[in-house]
Amino acid sequence: ADYGLDGYADYMRKEIAEQPESVRRALLGRLDERFATARLGGLRLDARELRSIRRVKFLGCGSAYYAGQIGANLVEELARLPADAEPASEFRYRNPVVDGDTLYVAVSQSGETADTLAAVQELARKGGRVIGMVNAVGSAIARECGSGVFLHAGPEVSVASTKAVTNMSTCFAMLALLLGRVRDLSVADGRRVVEALDALPARIQEVVADEEHIAEAARRFADARHMFFVGRVRGWPVAREGAQKLKEISYVHAEAYQAGELKHGPIALIDRSMPSVVIVPDDELLAKNIGTIEQIKARGGPVLAVTNAELPRGLADVELRVPRTEPELDPILFGIPLQLLAYHLAKQLGRDIDKPRNLAKSVTVE
Ligand code: G6P
Repeated sequence: ADYGLDGYADYMRKEIAEQPESVRRALLGRLDERFATARLGGLRLDARELRSIRRVKFLGCGSAYYAGQIGANLVEELARLPADAEPASEFRYRNPVVDGDTLYVAVSQSGETADTLAAVQELARKGGRVIGMVNAVGSAIARECGSGVFLHAGPEVSVASTKAVTNMSTCFAMLALLLGRVRDLSVADGRRVVEALDALPARIQEVVADEEHIAEAARRFADARHMFFVGRVRGWPVAREGAQKLKEISYVHAEAYQAGELKHGPIALIDRSMPSVVIVPDDELLAKNIGTIEQIKARGGPVLAVTNAELPRGLADVELRVPRTEPELDPILFGIPLQLLAYHLAKQLGRDIDKPRNLAKSVTVE
């Protein structure tokens, strides 16, 4: 699926830059301004069936699993349905309880990941309701699911997934909006989310345009051999995906941690040589996240804050600014600077971005 580099140094860089366009494609014809909801015809579920869903579980591997965690948070926030994400590679081996009131969502860029396909087949055997949220049309997972939402990210060549992941979260936001609007999400809240989704491509463009600033941050941390990625609640899956990106292409050891768990053990690792990337959205947890930064600083750890808030001056060593959107959508936007951070760190280290060692674009065998 070689669609040309168009002058970019590598596919990852090209695909990062494509995100305003690929997100616009995911949203095309799917936002309903009038009823403040999303139109996802491929789901083939009418309002009554949508209302009968009591729980949502996202299944995927690698970045698709982390994106699924963002999806689960969105469903809980917007639809107030219990939701979670699980690695498809675990689900298939643990004799899962499959219940008919749960909507299972198989998430995959390639649609060919063996573990995810096997999870879908196990669900089919046990009578679970499963939809696919897949990028590749005609792929095995898309066919096996039979209904779902295509991501419309376009072909993704880079092993490290960027635009497909962003489109996953964008599509999850629409699913959550739809599930919310057949329950008790208000028109006003629905409209707030519809408008923020509509504006998302422009916000992503602003992050991509800030690349030089992100590259500079990457240069400052190029000596680090270990890094923490820290976030809480909405920021936690963002931190996990940020750490994953860095590991994949730079081979720097990155560990994601829930901010509140840091003090229960891993804070022992913090010193001058262990920087932390802290996800700091301007939401109801801002004060908590500022506290986390202070704890890290007090132990001599350098801090790179990714934020859309006004932080106290000098609190973080480096700040990466993210434009504002609605708080529920922060995880989508906060992922973009972390892609660029991983990219530029790996570049600093002279890595082969599009051919990271030991990895395959899609793992079709066990
Ligand atoms: C591989 C890739 C990951 C990807 C995962 C799931 O391990 O290296 O980047 O997230 O597969 O791929 P999928 O195509 O199912 O999204």
